[in-house]
Amino acid sequence: MNDALQIFACNSNRALAAEICHKLGLRLSPLEISRFSNDNLHVQIQENVRERDVYVIQSFTEPVSDHIMELFITLDALRSASARRVTAVIPYYSYARSDKKDAPRISITGRLIADMLKTAGADRVLTMDLHADQVHGFFSVPVDHLTAIPTIADYFRDNHDLGNMVAVATDAGGAKRVGRFSERLGIPMAIIDKRRVSDTQVKQGEVVGQVAGRDVVIFEDEISTGGTLVSTIETLKRAGARTVHAGAVHGVLCGPAIERLRAAEIESIVVTNTVNVPSEKHFEKLTVLTVAPLLAAAIERIHSGASVGALFE
Ligand code: R5P
Repeated sequence: MNDALQIFACNSNRALAAEICHKLGLRLSPLEISRFSNDNLHVQIQENVRERDVYVIQSFTEPVSDHIMELFITLDALRSASARRVTAVIPYYSYARSDKKDAPRISITGRLIADMLKTAGADRVLTMDLHADQVHGFFSVPVDHLTAIPTIADYFRDNHDLGNMVAVATDAGGAKRVGRFSERLGIPMAIIDKRRVSDTQVKQGEVVGQVAGRDVVIFEDEISTGGTLVSTIETLKRAGARTVHAGAVHGVLCGPAIERLRAAEIESIVVTNTVNVPSEKHFEKLTVLTVAPLLAAAIERIHSGASVGALFE
């Protein structure tokens, strides 16, 4: 295989792709994405990729279907252009939330998209903090599943007094994730009983664990419409929490999220740039950390055949 590695980016998060390239000392390889007058997408790879190790960066953010199609067509174009190995780098895999048959006659779309990535030409996938660990098993190509838990935990260690802090899971499904976060910080954890009422609303019950008089950090895989976070803040305040902070890997921040979070009784919110957060969504309580160094290190290791797991040891 030609020794060079090449990085391409579709349209969802070019800022992150540029940062990754900067870390690797590479330039972003050119591709052109356009539309025919009938709305069909058209992708052209604009340099030679024959026998190269190629990476395509694309998060599944709004407009999700367009961004997924851009990635499929790019993967197919790279394969047709004789790339030696193609890795789909998907920092945010939104369809991981469609991971089970929890209603009659529905699709487990997280698995469907995994199949389609392989069909389109992905030889490998590099992704981060899937909604549930077992979604990894939907893929029949090798997957490197990174986590930003250490990145966010280290930020809290550097910027807060942890003496009175408790980490909180918004539901039982998030308990393992919060366990890893609280372990890294050496703080206790609590769990809230949550039921989802609709796409944008949740209902919460008891808090299991001590939060009265404590500084609490809610930890999540993603903040989407902000419904879960706002409900959790209210539950924790009722239970006597002194201050509330939040950390989440994917700052999807869609629909009413920003309006809800601005009005919420919360001190600070920390997300990463797996999803591009445009400047109009920034507000004083929001901090966006970068995962570019982590993704760049993983790409370097995949390319050279070194261990990716060793990044977290
Ligand atoms: C759900 O199980 C996830 O961990 C998050 O709580 C959820 O995706 C957040 O969505 P929203 O912000 O719309 O409540």
